Amino acid sequence: MERTLILVKPDGVQRGLMGEIIGRFERRGLKLVGMKFILMSTELAERHYAVHQGRPFYNDLVEYITSGPVVAMAWEGKEAITAARNSIGATNPVEASAGTIRGDLGMEIGRNLVHGSDSAENGLKEVSLFFSEEELVAWDRVTEEWIRE
Ligand code: RTP
Ligand code: MG
Repeated sequence: MERTLILVKPDGVQRGLMGEIIGRFERRGLKLVGMKFILMSTELAERHYAVHQGRPFYNDLVEYITSGPVVAMAWEGKEAITAARNSIGATNPVEASAGTIRGDLGMEIGRNLVHGSDSAENGLKEVSLFFSEEELVAWDRVTEEWIRE
């Protein structure tokens, strides 16, 4: 079972797109197991984006992600990583396919609205960076058999 950490980034919150973005994952059939509305500390941002440390865009990235509140979510399911990444679209919204979140709603790489974990391993790591196990909710979804064979 995969888990992916999804963030609605500060631009998504400020632009009033939280519902639009969350709704896409919900309608897709991913299962929500954790959600919080937070202002990320610089320390959390630096841990979350540690792989990008040293890149030219790193400082701007930390500033961007801490510039306002974000919605942090854990979504679960078989192939959750691939499904979420495909719904999110390419990193640069101008190159992202129409129909994806970034391709429909964004124009700039530094304002690309949403984060999604990029591998099963990173999904588990990132979810545990934002959520304790007690904050995650195990629940039975009544529509499960209409979504999963
Ligand atoms: P994310 O981690 O946010 O889901 O995005 P991603 O996998 O599609 O892209 P990644 O390579 O992990 O980059 C993380 C975030 O850094 C910003 N970025 N800016 N100016 C640039 O060249 C540049 N490249 C990356 C973006 O906000 C990207 O989402
Ligand atoms: Mg990434």
